Amino acid sequence: MTTTDDATTVYGRPEFADIDIGDTMRHGHPDITDGDRLIVDLVRRRAATLGRPLTVMDVGSGSGVVSAMLAHRLPEHRVIANEIEPKLIAQARSRLGDFRNGEVFDRPFQEWKEPLDVIISWGSHHHLPNTYLDHVRTLLADDGVLIIGDEFCPEYCDDNDAARVTTAEVIHLADGLVLTSHRDVAAYRAEGVVPQWSRDLEAKRRRALWHWYKFVIDYAMAKDNWTVVLAELQITRDDLTTTFDEEHKLSPLIVRRDLELNGFRPLSTNVIGNRSVDLQSFYLYEFAPRARA
Ligand SMILES: C[S@@+](CC[C@H](N)C(=O)[O-])C[C@H]1O[C@@H](n2cnc3c(N)ncnc32)[C@H](O)[C@@H]1O
Repeated sequence: MTTTDDATTVYGRPEFADIDIGDTMRHGHPDITDGDRLIVDLVRRRAATLGRPLTVMDVGSGSGVVSAMLAHRLPEHRVIANEIEPKLIAQARSRLGDFRNGEVFDRPFQEWKEPLDVIISWGSHHHLPNTYLDHVRTLLADDGVLIIGDEFCPEYCDDNDAARVTTAEVIHLADGLVLTSHRDVAAYRAEGVVPQWSRDLEAKRRRALWHWYKFVIDYAMAKDNWTVVLAELQITRDDLTTTFDEEHKLSPLIVRRDLELNGFRPLSTNVIGNRSVDLQSFYLYEFAPRARA
């Protein structure tokens, strides 16, 4: 469900039509370029470990910045940029045009059918429907890996919240509010009731987000990058709107629990940026699919 007038993320809005937003973000937003380099490094290490040509997909590749870096640095591996916004598809095609090992898949990720060795979800996790994780598991080889990095909401779970989240039976978003048990989901579906804990947690999320976005916008202003300032102002509004599901950053702890519940086990955790926890948003994880029962 959405409640904003223009129910689209900034990536599809007309005022950004002539801008390569992926490139611009890398000049005016903290932590993204460090994450790019780390992703390339993780894929290189994976390739070295497996010792065979890999098929790598960059889901929600945007304008293809990371896909192009990978195609350039790993010429013997197949790199697929996956994107659905027409403008971004064109930009990714142009970026990958120089690389024989690079290509673009221009349909929703859910429509890809071939097996994959590495799936990268970089900045895309909080834009994709939760069911995409199931699709990742069906596509990944047994020795495959999901590299998932995102701009999360800096951690807002206190110890009590963490105890509830780490033992959650389910992570279910009910109009943007987190539910953690099948009973709560059933009650929400039957009567629309939501535990007070879920509402309190959402208040914490919004406060943590506001603090983070002020930092991001000040960072962009210091670089005189008004495109990023304006984009982030819109993203802030989208994200603070609890029910706007296309821009909904959650705490790293909640996302990790969600991945575990979706059949993944963590291989590595990498923190990007060196700041206090309240301004620590970017994490890059490697997850492996657990064998199906
Ligand atoms: C924040 S952007 C990702 C940025 C990009 N990874 C980068 O490195 O610049 C999220 C992207 O996911 C794309 N997306 C959303 N749903 C998708 C889907 N079902 N399949 C493929 N891409 C999708 C959006 O169009 C958007 O460009």
